[in-house]
Amino acid sequence: MAHHHHDHTDVDWDEMGPRLEAQAELFTPLYEHALAWLAKRQTEPGLVVDAGSGPGVVTCLLADTFPGARIVAVDASGPLLDRARTRAERLGVADRFDTLTGELPGVLGDLDYPADLLWAGRSLHHLGDQRAALAAFAERLSIGGTLALQEGSLPSRFLPRDIGFGRPGLQARLDVVEAEWFARMRAELPGSVAETEDWPALLAAAGLRPSGTRTFLLDLPAPTTDRARAHVAATLARTREVLGDRLDADDRATLDRLLDPGDEASVHHRPDVFVLAAQTVFTAVRAR
Ligand SMILES: C[S@@+](CC[C@H](N)C(=O)[O-])C[C@H]1O[C@@H](n2cnc3c(N)ncnc32)[C@H](O)[C@@H]1O
Repeated sequence: MAHHHHDHTDVDWDEMGPRLEAQAELFTPLYEHALAWLAKRQTEPGLVVDAGSGPGVVTCLLADTFPGARIVAVDASGPLLDRARTRAERLGVADRFDTLTGELPGVLGDLDYPADLLWAGRSLHHLGDQRAALAAFAERLSIGGTLALQEGSLPSRFLPRDIGFGRPGLQARLDVVEAEWFARMRAELPGSVAETEDWPALLAAAGLRPSGTRTFLLDLPAPTTDRARAHVAATLARTREVLGDRLDADDRATLDRLLDPGDEASVHHRPDVFVLAAQTVFTAVRAR
């Protein structure tokens, strides 16, 4: 990945470690449900590949879910893979855990064996040509192997529609600027190809047989934990930093108030903060 660009759609993954890790840790109950569902569809894989693993929280959950499998975390970011390795050591799964550093999808050519399960969690949409990447993922599957794609989640909700100040519906308006940011991010990726995001159709076009779609919830109702609050604060702070210029002055002021630790009405203190998130997993099998 290129770094230190002036445009705001270029994500510096190397420095995202702590945030990605905290988020995936908070989302662990969601991943546990998703992986339990997956384990019924792909029993006893020998090799599990986590494509775009980041700091390896989900990779280690994959290791727990499939105790007989070797696990390979693949990512372009060396610093994130260092975190993944450290985590695997801490959790006692390092003896069957490897990392592979390089650009997806080409780096998958360096795998020694075909994967029986390839998990791509929120990584495909960072690749310019998603159709070509899916074809390359499919090619690295064993016969009977499963590709599991986590894409197309709903925008998370953290606050009631009316929070007592500012114009009601703030999060719906944040969704709009985030969707626009996402479109620019995609358009500016190297080799970007516009694609209709019909994931089962794209999986079929990659020569796989779509085998399931399911959405998993993370439901942390108010009053919520400090950890959930920290996630909400970090997410809104990033939105303020990256997209603040695209909001109107009222919404910017509302966000600033929500982020001010000295304000009793901020997300650091208010009792009505919650996390409600929904993420979808699509599976497909290599039949031949
Ligand atoms: C949103 S993060 C998801 C991390 C993890 N799968 C999770 O769900 O927590 C996307 C990951 O994809 C990786 N990534 C983005 N573009 C990549 C590329 N071209 N090749 C390899 N990895 C890439 C990033 O380094 C990052 O770790």
